[in-house]
Amino acid sequence: MEERVFVFDTTLRDGEQSPGCSMNVQEKLRLARQLESLQVDVIEAGFPISSEGDFEAVQEIAKTIRGCTIAALARAVKGDIERAWQALQYAARPRIHTFIATSDLHLKYKLKKSREQVLEDAVAAVRLAKSYCDEVEFSCEDASRSDIDFMCKVIEATIDAGATIINLPDTVGYAVPDEYGAMFRTVRERVPNIGKIILSAHCHNDLGLAVANSLAALKNGARQVECTVNGIGERAGNAALEEIVMGLKTRREYYGLYTNVKTEEIMKTSKLLSSLTGMMVQRNKAIVGANAFAHEAGIHQDGILKSPITYEIMTPQSVGIKESTLVLGKHSGRHALKQRYAELGYQLTEEELERAYKMFCAIADKKKEIYDDDLEAIVEAGFTSTEEIYTLENLQITSGTSLRPTATVELRHGNEVLVDSATGDGPVDAAYKAIERITGIIGELKEYSIKAVHSGHDALGEVFVRIDFDGSLYNGRAASTDIITGSVNAYLEALNRALTRKRRQQNSHRRTVKEETV
Ligand code: KIV
Ligand code: ZN
Repeated sequence: MEERVFVFDTTLRDGEQSPGCSMNVQEKLRLARQLESLQVDVIEAGFPISSEGDFEAVQEIAKTIRGCTIAALARAVKGDIERAWQALQYAARPRIHTFIATSDLHLKYKLKKSREQVLEDAVAAVRLAKSYCDEVEFSCEDASRSDIDFMCKVIEATIDAGATIINLPDTVGYAVPDEYGAMFRTVRERVPNIGKIILSAHCHNDLGLAVANSLAALKNGARQVECTVNGIGERAGNAALEEIVMGLKTRREYYGLYTNVKTEEIMKTSKLLSSLTGMMVQRNKAIVGANAFAHEAGIHQDGILKSPITYEIMTPQSVGIKESTLVLGKHSGRHALKQRYAELGYQLTEEELERAYKMFCAIADKKKEIYDDDLEAIVEAGFTSTEEIYTLENLQITSGTSLRPTATVELRHGNEVLVDSATGDGPVDAAYKAIERITGIIGELKEYSIKAVHSGHDALGEVFVRIDFDGSLYNGRAASTDIITGSVNAYLEALNRALTRKRRQQNSHRRTVKEETV
């Protein structure tokens, strides 16, 4: 029988306390809302005693989020626990998470306490927390370096005192998977009342093993896993939520475990966190990195086009990415190139493809990535051209400090000359609006730049525009001594490109329909 794993997200506590990741109250609330949409089970919202900001954030999140348990951290100290409860009291499902170190190393150098004192503090903390709320989590800080007999004693006593979740952190990222898994097994075997609680894993990534260690703990009986979005956290970070969740989902048969996380929300959550903190994920990061579903090698691209399962162990859609990308670069093959051309509206013959591929390889040797513009330049320079569907016949502008900029444009379209006028924010805007009135085609200007080709008053101005027609981008370029004329011609070039592509697509569609009906 498959068992459920509870996902405890500590992005707002263990994650947020790491350098470069701090967020203000409103930002934390935004992330908490997204974590609720991601359907994590527990949001650890902060450490209320540590600052006013943390207190306020926990309080706001406790008041707002109703779909998850809200946890707040407290040392095994009366003041911490009282403060945690003050912040948590409005939560639909509150949890106090209290902790004390159990390793001799921490006892000697940090706490300067005996084992007996630590045991006493742990029990007292859990009792106090329990007097406020039903759900109490107790963590044996530095569990992976603790004496197992002493730790088992602490665990047994804190369960008796009312703890409902026992967390065994690898605080310093020292453990390795077999050993960390074995610790959970031992605790389950030795602690008599262990069946009353949920065991939890919490791993840091100092040796790059946080996710592997967390999965090993789950394999050995842990049923709560503590993690952060994008793996942010102290030093090398915490175990990455998206990696654990997708590891369990992708290898469900192996683990026999599942989570309630809505995995389609993963990418959105990752992006929100990056934009709130400015902490970007590396391109090759598992699951959420820009390259996680991108393929450049020709053999891989060919495989992906034949069947995605050849080189993808999960679908991009399952983590909220629209589709995989085939990056066109020097490792790409003909198959991917042909596919991209088809998407751009060019149906190339085998011979055309061969010619395009040769030119593509020459460019790819010089450039890291090849964009759609480059591909268009290849075919247009090589064997197709943009039709001059609309050309400028005449242009008249009135503009001045106290005049409303007005443009009258005359365009040739086949044998017809079409005229219209429009006003705008400036003469270029007015001219573009007049063109839209004539053609009935609305474009969204995404980029406009102008530069002088030479110096001097009579210099040529070169205008570059990038326009969105119907969701696709088209470039236009024109040079003129009159910058308004240059701007109109650049616009018309982009428009003619869009219309040429549309015609090409319609022709190829007609050809296909004809072939299918013959
Ligand atoms: O890493 C750790 O030990 C912690 C505890 C406070 C749970 O973050
Ligand atoms: Zn931690």
